[in-house]
Amino acid sequence: MGRHPVVPDPAGRRHGRRLRAVRRRPALAGGPRPHPALRERYGRAAHPARAPRRGPARDRPDPRGHGRGRLPLRLRLRLAEGAPHVSPFRLTRTLPEDATDAALRADVLTGLTSTPKSLPPKWFYDARGSELFEEITALPEYYPTRAEREILAGRAGEIAAATGARTLVELGSGSSEKTRHLLDALTGLAAYVPVDVSVSALTGAGEAIAAERPDLHVHALLADFTDGLALPDTPGPRLVAFLGGTIGNLLPAERAAFLTSVRALLSSGDALLLGTDLVKDERVLVRAYDDAAGVTAAFDKNVLAVINRELGADFAPAAFDHVAVWDAEREWIEMRLRARTAQTVKIQALDLAVEFAAGEELRTEVSAKFRREGVRAELSAAGLDLTHWWTDGEGRFALSLSRVR
Ligand code: AVJ
Repeated sequence: MGRHPVVPDPAGRRHGRRLRAVRRRPALAGGPRPHPALRERYGRAAHPARAPRRGPARDRPDPRGHGRGRLPLRLRLRLAEGAPHVSPFRLTRTLPEDATDAALRADVLTGLTSTPKSLPPKWFYDARGSELFEEITALPEYYPTRAEREILAGRAGEIAAATGARTLVELGSGSSEKTRHLLDALTGLAAYVPVDVSVSALTGAGEAIAAERPDLHVHALLADFTDGLALPDTPGPRLVAFLGGTIGNLLPAERAAFLTSVRALLSSGDALLLGTDLVKDERVLVRAYDDAAGVTAAFDKNVLAVINRELGADFAPAAFDHVAVWDAEREWIEMRLRARTAQTVKIQALDLAVEFAAGEELRTEVSAKFRREGVRAELSAAGLDLTHWWTDGEGRFALSLSRVR
């Protein structure tokens, strides 16, 4: 599925490009921090994901691709070395370095020449967007992060008992902050496989966890998991976790394809732990996506800054208003940018001029909200049986556990 499959073949080649696997030793907590050259080329680009991450605040994608981020991954990792040895940390790249550029161009061209106009939410997450998302998770109006953390803190023991997982795979692992509860509870765990498109998130979180858990094999995968995935050969049972409600950022057909590809990763005895935000009072939902301090508005407009920088466009973010709308029929929140006046935006890299009428809206994100029976049905259609359903005390967010049928 998708535009750029990232499943490596057994020879470790894809598209004629050798997979680069790097073994290194992590820094002890409090030890030397990663060299600035570890800054990735693109903050936490290719997926909207999820849990707050702590990518370097000042990393800037290099629009021409000649910056330090272009260093071979092996070299970038070596620059961070020189720390005491703890436990093995391995990082495998399955994304070509130019995947981001090509995918952004294709998405912007398609999205801005369609009616109505839309953009996929994954392009919010450069370094600035990631920082803004972390701010969002601390807003009084934005409850999902706190609600999910409450469930994980309270139920990690039950999750561990129900799965007996020896490998934890986390899709869109980010800072792995909420994962700590799971890692602490999964006492028989042998391997942790964080999967993300962000080098800084993977190395930062991977290092810290490898340092805390010398018994654990940490094998980070730099990959876009919406495009298919090949997992390292680690002991079962496997628990695949997809947290943060990020599945809601996929459209229904994309969700079905995604769940089917997750199902394909699982064998009998394995399980999926899925975070889903729940349908609730419209005012609560709209406030969560249109906060009083305007952080979500800044996050929404950040996608315009990303396109300006990466594709040489001339969007004026101040010429757009942030709008959050509840679609009661489809049960999702839409974030949109509404043009304040009629305007033309030029996108140099695409040799494209895009016309906006006054009041015209560009959809930048769908964030679907779920009900138990809907989640059960979507899992079931992918061959997964829901076995557990846990919510926070206020019933705002759910974690579900499902197994291969
Ligand atoms: C990435 C799924 C956690 O949809 O709620 C937050 C992203 N967008 N505020 C969500 C987001 C606007 C978020 N997740």
